[in-house]
Amino acid sequence: MSPRRSRGRRLVLVAVAAVALVLAACSEVKNNGQNSLEPKGPKAQQIYDLFVPILIIAIVVGIAIIIATVFLAVKFRYKKGVNENPKQVHGNTRLEIGWTVIPALLLAIIAVPTVATIFDLAENPGPSALQVTVEGKQWWWQFSYPDAKVVTADEMVIPTGRDVFVKLTACDPKTGPTVTCNVIHSFWVPELAGKKDVVPGQTNTLTLNADKPGTYLGQCAEYCGLSHANMRFRVIAKSPADFQEWLSEQQQGPVNALYTTDADGKQVPAGPTQKLIVNTFACTNCHVFDDSSKAAYGPNLTHLASRSVFASGSFQLNRANLISWIMNAPSMIPMESQDCRLPPGPDVTCVGMPSFTENTPKGDPVMTRAQAETLADYLLSLK
Ligand code: CUA
Repeated sequence: MSPRRSRGRRLVLVAVAAVALVLAACSEVKNNGQNSLEPKGPKAQQIYDLFVPILIIAIVVGIAIIIATVFLAVKFRYKKGVNENPKQVHGNTRLEIGWTVIPALLLAIIAVPTVATIFDLAENPGPSALQVTVEGKQWWWQFSYPDAKVVTADEMVIPTGRDVFVKLTACDPKTGPTVTCNVIHSFWVPELAGKKDVVPGQTNTLTLNADKPGTYLGQCAEYCGLSHANMRFRVIAKSPADFQEWLSEQQQGPVNALYTTDADGKQVPAGPTQKLIVNTFACTNCHVFDDSSKAAYGPNLTHLASRSVFASGSFQLNRANLISWIMNAPSMIPMESQDCRLPPGPDVTCVGMPSFTENTPKGDPVMTRAQAETLADYLLSLK
């Protein structure tokens, strides 16, 4: 065997091994809950049904070009003793028209279903749809159900088999006297719908729909600062009856009241734990504990214990995680919150949950583990 032929054979072997490795890796991929190639609802299915034929066309074109390139390279390669240039086709009108018209035609063909699908998906699903307002924050998602007057975070609960019309915004008109705007985020639940940017000063809309009960993982898909990669959420689809039950549970007041009325008719914290929340650590500056219809700077916690995850879907909701979080949240998820316990001012940077064990301002109390345990137990009672 000539040295050149054995080298060619080795190259082919390496190529085959590489392809085999890649294919083996593909088959090993477990379902990660964010696979847009496994649609779990009609909207995602529509996108998938557009993707597959276009992918097939792209593969056919790609293979044709690779074969033509290899064929031409071999056919017109340099041959020993033959010193003639192949016939030159530069400026050949028929060829020029051919390779302009064929791609243009292909694109025109692809455009028909693409444009139809875009318009179809953008259509307002009408009054029968469930309305949900989504606010992208740094770095968590707030979900409001305007008809039911329910505000929640991290988990968007929806009924199966019904369109959910999602209004996406990065501005929050409810938390203060002025409208505060956030940065750009992108809302994406790969198994249920396409991706849509969440832009300050603008309301974008998206319709999603889940066929079956289940948990579908979502993700912020637009770089939005320090903890962009931690800005997760989940969509939990329940049967219509279970969804109604969830909704009416959310509408109820807190299991454990935050305030009570004292002998003078004044509103005071209802107990020592509530005193920690309201007075000692001023958690009420950012969170609402006793009214699930109110939005705030931080997640509404009135029914926190009904959720399975917290901290933008990054942690399972359990006692150990919650205690660590309450004491020192920025050690679990990076946030720009060193100054968050200071009074607001021009030089104060405050994004996220502060640490109650570090960066404590002079004169303010540092949280003990026992206090964090008490707070966690209170929060875990808020079903
Ligand atoms: Cu929000 Cu990235």
